[in-house]
Amino acid sequence: SDSISSEGFCAVNSGSDCGLPSPYTKILIKGGTVVNAHHKEVADVYIEDGVILSVRPNIRVPDENIRVIDATGKYVMPGGIDPHTHLDMEFMGTATIDDFFTGHAAALAGGTTMHIDFVIPINGNLTAGFEAYKHKASKAAMDYGFHMAITKWDEDVSKDMGVMVRDHGINSFKFFMAYKGTLMVNDDLLLEGLKKCKSLGALPMVHAENGDAVVEGQNRMIDLGITGPEGHALSRPPVLEAEATARAIRLAAFINTPLYVVHVMSTDAMEEIAKAKKAGQRVVGEPVVSGLVLDDSWLWHPDFTTASKYVMSPPIRELGHGQALRAALSTGTLQLVGTDHCTFNSTQKAFGLDDFRKIPNGVNGLEERMHVLWDAMVETGKINVMDYVRITSTECARIFNIYPKKGAILEGSDADVIILNPNASFEVSATSHHSRSDTNVYEGRTGKGKVEVTVSRGRVVWENDVLNVMPGSGKYIKMPPFSYLFDGIDKSNAAYLSSLRAPVKRSSAAS
Ligand code: URP
Ligand code: ZN
Ligand code: ZN
Ligand code: ZN
Repeated sequence: SDSISSEGFCAVNSGSDCGLPSPYTKILIKGGTVVNAHHKEVADVYIEDGVILSVRPNIRVPDENIRVIDATGKYVMPGGIDPHTHLDMEFMGTATIDDFFTGHAAALAGGTTMHIDFVIPINGNLTAGFEAYKHKASKAAMDYGFHMAITKWDEDVSKDMGVMVRDHGINSFKFFMAYKGTLMVNDDLLLEGLKKCKSLGALPMVHAENGDAVVEGQNRMIDLGITGPEGHALSRPPVLEAEATARAIRLAAFINTPLYVVHVMSTDAMEEIAKAKKAGQRVVGEPVVSGLVLDDSWLWHPDFTTASKYVMSPPIRELGHGQALRAALSTGTLQLVGTDHCTFNSTQKAFGLDDFRKIPNGVNGLEERMHVLWDAMVETGKINVMDYVRITSTECARIFNIYPKKGAILEGSDADVIILNPNASFEVSATSHHSRSDTNVYEGRTGKGKVEVTVSRGRVVWENDVLNVMPGSGKYIKMPPFSYLFDGIDKSNAAYLSSLRAPVKRSSAAS
C-alpha cells in the first residue's frame, strides 16, 4: 500500500515517520452494546483527547469536529491486552521478525491495543536490557508495558530489580526453567528471585519445563535418528511441564508469594494449577491461543516449512489438551489468555532443517488472538461476552495493576476501544495478515465475529480493513507493584511467624 493513507496518517509498511496529527480528537460511538468484565448495556461512548469522558445512553454533544461511529448491533469493548509477546527479541541465534511497529500494526488490526513484552537482560544486566528495549520500542504504534527476565543472580541483579520496580514501572519478573545453557535458571536462583519479587511486590512468572530433562529428551530423539519437527514434541512431553509447574508452585508456596505460570500447554500442568488454587494458593495460569485451539499433529506434517512453524515451547500438545484448557478457562481455573507471539519466518525456521533443536521456537498470534478466542469461546457458548472481555483484557489489567486505566470502558479510562461485529466473519492468511512473517499457524482459519474498528489512545487506527498507524505514537505504560494478588500477604506472613513453636534452649554439650 502507499505510504500515506487517505486520512493522512502513515499507512502500515510506510517505512517513514510522518507524525501527522489525527483529524479527530473527539469520537462518539453510538448505540452499541458496551461490555465490561462486570456489566454490559446499550450505551454511547464519548472520547476526547485519548480518554473516555462519558459512557451512557443517548449522549448529545455539539456535532462540530466529532467523528460519530454507529455501533448498533455490535459490541463495544476494551481493546485486547496481550500479556505475553516477544517483539524484536534475540533468541536461538536469530531475532523475532516482528518488531514494535509491525507487531503493533498486526495487533491493532486484530483488536489488541496493548501488550506486555519481555525485556531480556544483556549478559544478565537488567539496566542494559531495559535501555535496549526502550530503544526497540521507540517505534511503538500502541501502548505497551514490560516484564523482565532474570537470567543470572548476583548483588547487582538483586539491586537492579528494585530499581526496575521503583523507577521504571516493571512489576513482574520471568524465570525460565528451560533453555539450558542460555536463559535457564536453577532452583537456587529461582528461590532468590521469588524472595526478591515478594519483597518488591512484583509478580514472579515462570516458563515451566524441566530444562535438564528436556536436554535428556532431545538426546534420546537424536539417538533414535528423529531429527524432524516431531522430535520437538517427543523430546519434551507434558510430564516435564507438569514437574516444573508443580515445583514452581511449591517453591512459591514455601516463600509465600503469588505466582504466574506462562503458556500453560498441557492438561497435566493445568491440573497442578487447579490443585494449588483449590488449596487457596495464589497461582495465575495463562494459556496461549495456540495451546487452546491447535494440536501437535501439524508437527508430523511431511512439509518441513509447514511442520516447523508449529515449533514452540512448551510444545503444542496432542488433541484433547486444548479442549481441557478451554474448559479450565471457562471455569476460571485459567484466568487470562496470551499469545507468546514470537514470530520467525520460514527462512529462520529452516535453520533447523536437519535438527529440530535448531528450529527457532515460537508462533504468531498477536493479530489473531481476539478473533480466534471469540470464535472458539463465545461462538461456541463456552463463555459470555463479559467473560470474553475479562480473559482478553480486564484480568490482565488487574494482574499487572493498571486497571481501570486499561481493561475497561469507564469514564476516565484510556480510549483503547474495539467494535466487534458478531455477524461478520474473519479469515486468517499470511497473504493478508500484518505480521512480517511469511507464514501463519492459523492459516485458512475462518470464524464468526470481526473487529471492525480499533481505537487506540482515542484515534481510529483500524477501520474498513485499513490501518492508520503512527510509529512513535504508542506510550510506555508503567505498572506499579503490589497488585491485588499481594493483598493480605503480610497478614499470612505474620500468621506464619506466630504459628512457629518456640525453639528449644539447649545447654552446651561440653558441660
Ligand atoms: O517457543 C516459545 N515459547 N518462544 C518464546 C520464548 C518463550 O519461551 O516464551
Ligand atoms: Zn508516514
Ligand atoms: Zn516461555
Ligand atoms: Zn514467551
